[in-house]
Amino acid sequence: SVINGKGLTLMPSFIDLHVHLRDPGYLYKEDLYTGQRAALKGGFTHICAMANTNPVCDNKKTMEYILNKHKKNNHCNLTQISSITKGLQGKELIDLEEMLKYTKLFSDDGVNVDNEELFEEVLKLSKEMYFTILTHCEPEAEVIKRDLELLENTEGNLHICHISLKKSLNLIKKYKDKGINFTCEVTPHHLFHWNDKYRVNPSFGKKEDVNAMIKGIKEGYIDIIATDHAPHSEEDKLKGSPGISGIEVAFSKVYTVFKENNISLNKLSEMMSYNPSRILELEEALVEEGKRADLVLVDLNQSYSVDSSTFISKGKNTPFNGRRVWGKVMMTIRDGEIVYKD
Ligand code: NCD
Ligand code: ZN
Ligand code: ZN
Repeated sequence: SVINGKGLTLMPSFIDLHVHLRDPGYLYKEDLYTGQRAALKGGFTHICAMANTNPVCDNKKTMEYILNKHKKNNHCNLTQISSITKGLQGKELIDLEEMLKYTKLFSDDGVNVDNEELFEEVLKLSKEMYFTILTHCEPEAEVIKRDLELLENTEGNLHICHISLKKSLNLIKKYKDKGINFTCEVTPHHLFHWNDKYRVNPSFGKKEDVNAMIKGIKEGYIDIIATDHAPHSEEDKLKGSPGISGIEVAFSKVYTVFKENNISLNKLSEMMSYNPSRILELEEALVEEGKRADLVLVDLNQSYSVDSSTFISKGKNTPFNGRRVWGKVMMTIRDGEIVYKD
């Protein structure tokens, strides 16, 4: 069949290294089906789900439950992330050998905050056993500083999640300029918004922090954009749960910011497709001969207002309702098949 893409822009589909799908445990917030459909609507054909489910994804049984359930509605590729300690408690290491059969992404579980020795061991193991640690640093700049000091000696594989402060970026610059290898991410919402008490981790920075992120992107210090899609019910938000449901409007937020700051669409594609594919080591598989395409068709000339009542995600939690954004996902193609159409 023929797709009429007149006036539209065709790009590689997006890859999201950081989402929360809430399955098992919090199906009222999201599940594997709604999370995946929301991702496709956002132009993503590969998502990586964090381990803070209930039970925590720290064992073979939970991992297989997720992967088997996912297989049943397999329209989006899924990498399930494992925790690195039992129950995300930051104390006892899980059976790494076993979980490495399923994933090479492990969350840090706050080990780096409470237990410097254990984190150093984890960094060493990441090099020996070959996996990547996704670290959530809190308090951000202090923990990033210590992590990078440790990394310099251990040469482990580290990815820093959701940086949000100018201070953090300065540290990242310092260590990248020294030639230390690691990657880092920024979320669409931390590029798009500031000075707001809406609860999200990390919390919104100041305008100068946002400017630093934009400069960091322009100078090539920030590797990827990941959504940290964190769906919650209205009731849980009222009780104070941090997070924003954002995967469906992620591209639009990023494109709007990039357009306002004269950052190219090539850069956006690099940060939302190519660089995440490299972290997942998919970049060669994606261009294999005979591989059917994963693509997204976007309309850069369309603007619209964010309206979370139209989200497929069960999480309608966002501070952005009514905000005008540019660029709309019109179609998502995965493995040569249309999996979402506006
Ligand atoms: C995360 C979530 O909801 O799982 N929320 C967030 O604001 N990023 C958990 C967390 O990182 O606190
Ligand atoms: Zn986090
Ligand atoms: Zn997160």
